[in-house]
Amino acid sequence: MDVREMKHGEKVSLLGFGCMRFPLNMDGSICECEAEAMLDKAIAHGVNYIDTAYPYHNGDSEPFVGRVLKKYDRSSFYLATKLPMFKIETLDDAKRIFEEQLQRLDVDNVDFYLLHAMNKDTWEKAKALGVLEYLDDLKETGKIRNLGFSFHDEYEVFKEMIDARDWDFCQIQYNYIDRNVQAGDQGYALCAKKQIPMVIMEPVKGGNLAVLPEDIAEILKKKRPNDSISSWALRWVASHSNVRVILSGMSTMQQVEDNLHTFDQLEQLNEEEEQLIEKVANMILERTKNGCTACKYCMPCPFGIDIPGNFKIWNEYAKYSNKDATKKKLDAMAREARFDQCKKCGRCEGLCPQHIAIRDDLEQMKKDLAFFK
Ligand SMILES: NC(=O)c1ccc[n+]([C@@H]2O[C@H](COP(=O)([O-])OP(=O)(O)OC[C@H]3O[C@@H](n4cnc5c(N)ncnc54)[C@H](OP(=O)(O)O)[C@@H]3O)[C@@H](O)[C@H]2O)c1
Repeated sequence: MDVREMKHGEKVSLLGFGCMRFPLNMDGSICECEAEAMLDKAIAHGVNYIDTAYPYHNGDSEPFVGRVLKKYDRSSFYLATKLPMFKIETLDDAKRIFEEQLQRLDVDNVDFYLLHAMNKDTWEKAKALGVLEYLDDLKETGKIRNLGFSFHDEYEVFKEMIDARDWDFCQIQYNYIDRNVQAGDQGYALCAKKQIPMVIMEPVKGGNLAVLPEDIAEILKKKRPNDSISSWALRWVASHSNVRVILSGMSTMQQVEDNLHTFDQLEQLNEEEEQLIEKVANMILERTKNGCTACKYCMPCPFGIDIPGNFKIWNEYAKYSNKDATKKKLDAMAREARFDQCKKCGRCEGLCPQHIAIRDDLEQMKKDLAFFK
């Protein structure tokens, strides 16, 4: 297992375990037996960075992870969890949740503590409520060892946050498709320049880069017939030296084994492989249906259609041809928010900065996703 260093000399495994995607029972609860075996396997093969969060698995991830880790020496692993700013309205909420997290995890301290899924609004809220001062106090007393944040907003907000403080680390979504999304390449370069170690989430784009259309997958398979498609995405992220941990949210033992294999024998991408990935990324991006950037200028739709949400699903279907994933996402959307409910009033079109013909595109979605009833 490749090992890299965090700000205060912590030697962390390059592959980290993301505890957001454990296998589930029929009732949606964590399939604890299998998930524990997966964690044990990863730890036995050198994974020492475990990332969970307050809301994962409806609050069950932290206590489960705490129970599993109890059998290991506390100094043998690094535990990361997050303060859900989106659930916090007062400073007392933050204090209560942190204390609850220590209890759930059954630990005295947290090695890597993050403000969770930060954006412009939650950043303003954290500053206004005095949450940052509270977290500084926790650091002072040793209850948290490193303070960082995970991020989901535009680069400008990311830069503002990075420039505001001397962070110990930060966590962004980064993969070979999302180089210009959220913090992206610019965010990576900024942190590299400022020597802020980075933890990466969604390296396989939540599974989207594990299954590619056949013609695209073929290009990668031809080059490395024995390697999984996911391994290319993981190796691409690993080729960035300021990335210190790559979190993979593994949901099966097979994925754990495959990813351990990738990191046990990690080979840097050579120049030819980098070019191949660029070609593959372009092929995927070319299959994007429209240029919706989810700026939400078109919202709210007077009839309740989730315009950016629908276009995201449509674009992803066009890229990855994954019918099951597409059906799952549409099923999770409220009926009235779906593309087939558009009343064609056209209010949205004058507001779209990308000048998207929204009504025509929603109509086209009906044809492309005819398999969805
Ligand atoms: N702080 C935040 O705001 C935030 C947000 C997102 C994630 N995170 C953290 O970051 C972690 C990583 O993000 P992520 O879970 O989106 O990571 P990811 O690795 O991009 O996606 C995980 C999914 O990729 C697929 N996968 C992974 N390895 C595979 C393999 N070898 N073969 C085939 N498929 C494979 C699986 O999809 P299937 O399950 O569909 O098979 C798995 O559930 C999360 O688990 C969580 O801990 C944090």
